[in-house]
Amino acid sequence: MGETVLVTGGAGYIGSHTALALIAAGHRVVVVDNFVNAKPDALAVVADITGQEIVVVEGDARDVKMLEHTMRENDVTAVIHMAALKAVGESVEMPLEYYGNNLESAISTLDAMRNTGVWKFVFSSSATVYGDPESCPIPESAPVGATNPYGMTKEMIELIIRDLSASDDRWKITSLRYFNPVGAHESGRIAEAPVGRPNNLMPMIMEVATGKRDKVMVFGDDWPTPDGTGVRDYIHIMDLVEGHVAALEHLEQQNGYEVYNLGQGSGVSVLELIRAVEGATGLEIPYEITSRRAGDIAECVADPTKANTVLGWETTRTIAEASRDAWNSQ
Ligand code: UFG
Repeated sequence: MGETVLVTGGAGYIGSHTALALIAAGHRVVVVDNFVNAKPDALAVVADITGQEIVVVEGDARDVKMLEHTMRENDVTAVIHMAALKAVGESVEMPLEYYGNNLESAISTLDAMRNTGVWKFVFSSSATVYGDPESCPIPESAPVGATNPYGMTKEMIELIIRDLSASDDRWKITSLRYFNPVGAHESGRIAEAPVGRPNNLMPMIMEVATGKRDKVMVFGDDWPTPDGTGVRDYIHIMDLVEGHVAALEHLEQQNGYEVYNLGQGSGVSVLELIRAVEGATGLEIPYEITSRRAGDIAECVADPTKANTVLGWETTRTIAEASRDAWNSQ
């Protein structure tokens, strides 16, 4: 049977890969996206790869009436809520836009779900809710404390859905805390294509690999890490989106609210990621060490044990494969 899943913000990098994984697992996909930060092209590619139709509605996830209509019209049975503004630096400059957009779209989506009797909700959260963690790997039980407005919106929405699920036992709600997704679908036909200067490391490395930029600026080599550069938990995008499918399918057996880390559980430094891409592409990636970026932390690595044991999900793809697939998508 499968679910009919509304993916808000489903046209983006994570959303389009999620659509692919959902369809591959036998579910149907309906996307609502306002296309402020994405184009419809990736979903057309997903429809082509899978041979399945994807219903795409251009609209804003703050629009309760539109969401209710979309859910009724398509017999939606579950929602994955990804629609959000997501640039950390921009959120510091424009907090009202971030709190307004991200909180309102989450509340409107939940409101529309309640009004139409749809109770299964998966939320795109972020490891950024852990702030500067006391130690790594980070379990879900670690204290939260986001250090920027973007991260605060994720933390606040997690509180809202926790309280909501406690208010009515029909809700089945899961929050997925993403670590650092990289790479692309094996076909290479869907790329992470940020508009303007990339904020994130892998898209930046890709722009250097393609010759669009001269070198990667490495933000600091004086961090308390083995080689002095920042350490993150880079997870292949296909592993990440398969985690969404596992979380969605687990909701049937779940009561109330649960939180899971989606990471692969080991740390990779900036220089190690550059070397992995060099190994996968045979290209030299020039870089220059520069000063630390404001707001950065030394290390952020997941303890994914809970998702491994409860959801029966684990990552299977390496950083080398993620580097190769990122490059293929270019
Ligand atoms: N980095 C560079 N040069 C760059 C870009 C990044 O050296 O041009 C370094 C950063 O200093 C950091 C690492 O590469 O050490 C990863 O940086 P990213 O910007 O790719 O990722 P972050 O871990 O800083 O942030 C990401 C998401 C956020 C999310 C966070 C959760 O972009 O949305 O993970 O941990 F909140």
